[in-house]
Amino acid sequence: MSPLANKTILLTGASSGIGQATARGLLDRGARVIGVSRRPDSLSQGIIPIKADLTSRDDIQQIFRQIDRIDALVNNAGIAYLSRIIDGNPADWEEMWRVNVFALSLCSQLALRHFPKKGGRIVNISSMSGHRVPPTGGFYAPTKFAVRAISDAMRLEIKASGLPVQVGCVSPGFVDTPLLDHYFRGREEALQKTREAMTMLEPEDVARCVIQLLETPDHVEIGDILLRSAEQKV
Ligand SMILES: NC(=O)c1ccc[n+]([C@@H]2O[C@H](COP(=O)([O-])OP(=O)(O)OC[C@H]3O[C@@H](n4cnc5c(N)ncnc54)[C@H](OP(=O)(O)O)[C@@H]3O)[C@@H](O)[C@H]2O)c1
Repeated sequence: MSPLANKTILLTGASSGIGQATARGLLDRGARVIGVSRRPDSLSQGIIPIKADLTSRDDIQQIFRQIDRIDALVNNAGIAYLSRIIDGNPADWEEMWRVNVFALSLCSQLALRHFPKKGGRIVNISSMSGHRVPPTGGFYAPTKFAVRAISDAMRLEIKASGLPVQVGCVSPGFVDTPLLDHYFRGREEALQKTREAMTMLEPEDVARCVIQLLETPDHVEIGDILLRSAEQKV
């Protein structure tokens, strides 16, 4: 039996891509999945839906008023627009900052109050763009560097406070999900070329890593898993 059987996992961005695959993997292991999305109707069967727009602080606080105890939080929701610093639309930066960074941080803070005394886990989805800046990555990469810094800061604060909570990251390269349509917005040819040049990761490849972090025994702390397609060059 999986250690996740009967555990309750709060998963943001459960409606699509990596989140959808993670939800499926968790349900297969007998976990109870609470899925956050702006489109609760698009959540797979078996997920307990919570409708929230993570750009809204009120919506985030509302999520945590609706839940009782949770054993883990997976901060997966994220937006990727190709929006350059030199001439990109600041509205794109703001949305990315709110979802990728602010919501992840506030959800993490609020989740601590819902973990059982014996402890909990937080898994943040970062990116290879949180480890090196791709030439066309614009404002997205800084948000993912921030995810890594927030995870490290939180880990240190948690250790200093003696809380039995583990924080880990998963940092994928290109994954074949709807997010890439936004990332390559206006550069559809480049997306086509990228698809032809490599077999990308599948959402399930990343979901397995998330589940590994959640299933690891309490005495093992995994800080970050970096994974990319074997054919991705950088
Ligand atoms: N795909 C890649 O190549 C790749 C690579 C590295 C890292 N990542 C990271 O992986 C994570 C998941 O991405 P994905 O590729 O699976 O993308 P996706 O298929 O586009 O899914 C994004 C998810 O985020 C949710 N979301 C976005 N904005 C939201 C908002 N304002 N409020 C609530 N939920 C919101 C969406 O839910 P609703 O639309 O239903 O609200 C959706 O479930 C992201 O953090 C992304 O940065 C992806």
